[in-house]
Amino acid sequence: MILVTGGLGYIGSHTCVALQRAGHALTIVDNLANSKIGVLERIRALGGGSVEFHRADLRDGPALAAAFERHPVEAVIHFAGYKAVGESVAKPLEYYDNNIGGTFVLLDTMARFSVHRIVFSSSATVYGDPQRLPLTEDHPLGAVNPYGRTKQFIESILTDVAAGTPGFRHATLRYFNPMGAHPSGRLGEDPRGIPNNLFPYITQVAIGRLQKLRVFGNDYDTVDGTGVRDFIHVMDLAEGHVAALRYLLEKDRSITANLGTGRGNSVLEVVGAFERVTGIRIPHEFAPRRPGDVASCYADVSRAFAELGWKTKLGIEDMCRDGWAWQSANPQGYPD
Ligand code: NAD
Ligand code: WQD
Repeated sequence: MILVTGGLGYIGSHTCVALQRAGHALTIVDNLANSKIGVLERIRALGGGSVEFHRADLRDGPALAAAFERHPVEAVIHFAGYKAVGESVAKPLEYYDNNIGGTFVLLDTMARFSVHRIVFSSSATVYGDPQRLPLTEDHPLGAVNPYGRTKQFIESILTDVAAGTPGFRHATLRYFNPMGAHPSGRLGEDPRGIPNNLFPYITQVAIGRLQKLRVFGNDYDTVDGTGVRDFIHVMDLAEGHVAALRYLLEKDRSITANLGTGRGNSVLEVVGAFERVTGIRIPHEFAPRRPGDVASCYADVSRAFAELGWKTKLGIEDMCRDGWAWQSANPQGYPD
């Protein structure tokens, strides 16, 4: 049994489908802070395996322990947390409390139940402003906002716990920019309110919920002046977790690895790909740079390939096609 925290969220839900398809039975723990319960049936239908669900907040120790009590837990995959950069600047204590506090209770509960394997959702944001590209895992860390600092602290906590606990192993996965959806159009990204991220903003313009995309900055030193990111299909990312779990269970070593494609695409390239794939025009205008943004960010993915035997299979057009399949079939996201 694999215990998945935050399994009803965007990346968690896709990963739960991939995990079931790889033969794992799952227990999901989620408090629905940023997800809807209807996701669960879709995860079950697409995955076809066994999925138990506990509605619980990670910070509630007894409720979390109840999820560990039912079946022996082989490993934990830890997605649960808050992830909005801007909100983390406005509400740092909520971010430290939920992300670090939640991880603390989780690690404590794992220790009580002698569970020694964890896959953790870190982020490329821990690198801060890139000093060189592509980003290798040994690039200096320097998160520039409270959200990123929670990820950096949790990485350190995992390193410390591994040093002090014989047999404890972690796979710390630094995601670049996840995008797209399950190809069925039944699972996807369903942000609350106006999206902060590029791709859900584009799909909501396409469906008519938003009028036009504002492209933040067209004077960066990039191919066309707009920001460049390493966009990764959420299904490729999901498979990265299956590979990391296999690594922990078979190789019995800890690892920190980037999960990206290794290639960057500009904002205008994403808009162009979306228009090509869907035939829908995305009205857009240039706006000033967004504070805190960097010009370019993309991964060196050689470690993930060498150690995990994993690399991405899907490209930007697949992400656009599948993301649009989701948005067009679910114009308002998941039902309440
Ligand atoms: P998400 O918000 O869609 O999913 C997170 C899930 O965790 C939600 O279902 C939410 O209800 C749940 N949750 C939050 N706090 C909880 C708590 N205290 N107890 C129980 N459940 C709780 O986010 P996502 O995009 O799927 O991201 C998953 C993880 O990956 C996060 O840790 C995020 O920081 C990290 N990450 C995301 C991105 C991205 O661009 N989406 C990039 C890098 C890293
Ligand atoms: C991508 C590009 C924007 C919206 C964030 C977090 C990071 C990680 C992934 C969690 C940039 C431009 C965007 C819009 C735009 N999350 N843009 N108009 O900032 O690379 O990463 O999500 O760990 O921590 O910081 O992603 O999708 O917000 O932006 O022009 O309406 O799109 O300026 O160049 P980002 P993003």
